[in-house]
Order: sequence, then C-alpha cells, then structure tokens
Amino acid sequence: MLVNKKIILGVCGGIAAYKAIELLRLLTKAGADVHIIMTRAAQEFVAPLTFQTLSSNPVHTELFNLIAEREIGHISLADRADLFMVVPATANIIGKIAAGIADDMLTTTVMATKAPVLFAPAMNVNMFTNPIYRENEQKLRALGYLFEAPVSGSLACGWEGEGKLASPEVIFEAAVAALTKKDLTGRTILVTAGPTREEIDPVRYISNHSSGKMGYALARAARRRGAQVVLVTGPTALATPVGVTVVPVMSAMEMQEAVMAHVAVCDVVIKAAAVADYRPATRNSTKIKKKADWATIELVRNPDILAGLGGMDYGLKHRPFLVGFAAETDALTENAAKKLSEKKLDMIVANDVSQVDAGFNVDTNRAVLLFKDGGSTLCELMSKEQLAGTILDQIIARLAES
Ligand code: CTP
Repeated sequence: MLVNKKIILGVCGGIAAYKAIELLRLLTKAGADVHIIMTRAAQEFVAPLTFQTLSSNPVHTELFNLIAEREIGHISLADRADLFMVVPATANIIGKIAAGIADDMLTTTVMATKAPVLFAPAMNVNMFTNPIYRENEQKLRALGYLFEAPVSGSLACGWEGEGKLASPEVIFEAAVAALTKKDLTGRTILVTAGPTREEIDPVRYISNHSSGKMGYALARAARRRGAQVVLVTGPTALATPVGVTVVPVMSAMEMQEAVMAHVAVCDVVIKAAAVADYRPATRNSTKIKKKADWATIELVRNPDILAGLGGMDYGLKHRPFLVGFAAETDALTENAAKKLSEKKLDMIVANDVSQVDAGFNVDTNRAVLLFKDGGSTLCELMSKEQLAGTILDQIIARLAES
C-alpha cells in the first residue's frame, strides 16, 4: 500500500510518544520507507534506538550534526519526503510551526518540506481548548496542513477530556488517505459485505463462508479515494474501517432494508455480500429439541436485493452504478454474465470461490470483471486490497463516461 513512499515521522516529547512506535510498525509493514526525527524532549520518553531498529534508518535528532548533515541533510530529507507526519504533535511544536520558528531539526525540516504535513496532536485538555492553540491549529489548517484530531478519554496528566492521541490505526489510515489520489470526492458509495445469517431458533442459523474481506477492502479503498462510504455488513470478525458509516445487519431481510434506506443518495452500489438465498420459513422462538433421527427445515426464498435495485424505477433520481459479485464454483464467466444481464447490472465481479487462494476467507483473489457493454477485464491473482483498487478504477472510468 505504501511501497516506494518515503515518510518523515517527527516525534515530539509527550507521553504518547510510545504510540508512534506502533504507528511506525504499521507504516513499515505497509512498505513505507520511514525516516524519524525526534525532538530533544521526545528522546526523554523513548530511546532513538527503538525507532532506528524498527525503521531500519538512522534517527535524526540534531540539526547541527555535521556528519549526518553531510550524509543526508535536513533539506534533502525534506525534499525527498512524500508525506511528513508529526506524531504526537505537542502544543509547543504546533505553536512554533504556526509562528514560523525553525530552531531544531524537526521544525526546520517541516518548514523546508513541500510534502503534505499531517499532525496528530496530543496534549492536556486545557491546552487543547486554549484559544492560543486553537488559533495556531486553525492557521495551519487554513494553510493546507492536515490534522488527525485527538479523541476524548482519560489523559496521562489525570484530566478527562479531549487531547488523547488518535489510535495508531486511525493515524495510519489518515496517512494512507493523504497519499491517495482523491478521485471519488463528492461520490457516495454503498458497499455490502460479509455473509447474512438466517436464524432457525435462538441457537442455530444458516449462513456461508464469506469473511467480508473483499467488501471491507472496497469500503476502505473508496473512503481513501475521497468517497462517502456506507458499509452495510453482515456479521464479520473484521475491524471497522476508519471514516466509513457502518450499518450492521444480520439477515438478508435486514440487509435489504438497510440498502433501501440508503440507495437514494448513492452514486454507486457494490454488492460484495454473500446473501443467503433462503431463510427458514419460521424462526422458532425457543431452542428446537431433537426428536426423530431426521429433521427437515422448510426454507423460503429471500428477496434478491441486487436484482431489486436493477429493476427499480428511479423516477427523476439518478440510477446508481450497480456492481454485483458472482461467487461461482463452475462455469464462471457464463454464470456471471447471466447474473449481469438478469439483474440489470452495470458490472459484475466474477470469482471462483472453489480455489484455495481466491474467494472466501483468504486475503487474495482473482477475478474477471464483466461490463454491461460486453467488455471484460481479467484480474490475475492479487491481494483483495489491490483488486478493490482495480474495481474502483473501472467504476470511476465508467462514471466519467455516464
Ligand atoms: N444478491 C443479492 N440478494 C440475494 C442474493 C444475491 O443482492 N438474495 C447479490 C449478491 O450480493 C451478489 C450477486 O447478487 O452481488 C450474486 O450473488 P451470488 O450469490 O453469486 O448469486 P445468486 O444471485 O444468489 O445466484 P446463485 O446462488 O444461484 O448462484
């Protein structure tokens, strides 16, 4: 995700400095080349060696260290950065940068960079609400500096309130978003994900092997590219994507209700969910006890949510771009093409769920994308994150044409 991205991570002196280690781990795991600058105060909280070991790069601390200056130099470091992050950002560093003070390695490099700068502030609640701090933050925001706001909670200083550093996952997401082209700004995208669960009684249900990974990857990718995202999700074990409106549902009927409640404002609907085609005709209110050696459950058809959207009369409203998924174990393209036309879709992602490295419950996928106009695109084995990017590229290209 961040391969070939050079990120400068400035660490300031605050108790939250240790959380920058976790952020560094997330950034390097995603492939970023991270260069750390620590203020003098930061080194009182965490040893530079920790950052050096985890980033595999020397840590910069002194502006006037001539040996380091000859080798890298704060200006060349600033020039080569794709993104500059300051985590945690103290009231002091934000005040200094807002006032144009450049008196150490960190402030000088921030001043010299042309890269986007993202601050994640952390401080005492009274400092955070102090009008001087507020004015400094507003000034920097107006100049295009990015902020990941702190959250409320119990602070290390003993106070309760706003000022707690946002979680490393949230800051990581802001970094990825800052480095992502915003080609979905102004668009609203509804994604469905995961399985549905059709209850038999309070103890049992019918479901399928969908993990939700593909739908969540699509929701995250669309959000990073600037879209407003509504994620209607069946039960999954996945972390909630940052910045996305999540609507949790259980059954196909609940999923249909949630989709219908949001579809009017959507430009695109992507139905990655594996919806159960049938539900038990009745749900027993108490646990069904075993009696005979065999048992039957009467099932009734669930509504086809996607086909419903394909056949719907949108009146004067714009019809959303409809994307389906076809989970197949045989005759992949033929079955998917049939669903594309029968459900009146604009595009369908056909995947063979019988393969071990594609489909349900794995991090990779391979697919054939089929389009209403007869076109198709073959996507060889790739991560679900990458496939999400390719699917969105295709949608964007077609939205531009419509
Ligand atoms: N879908 C839906 N509502 C259903 C069943 C499916 O919206 N009740 C959507 C899925 O979210 C997916 C597409 O239709 O985008 C195709 O789903 P899939 O399970 O592959 O096929 P089905 O249409 O259910 O047909 P079959 O099970 O016979 O293959």
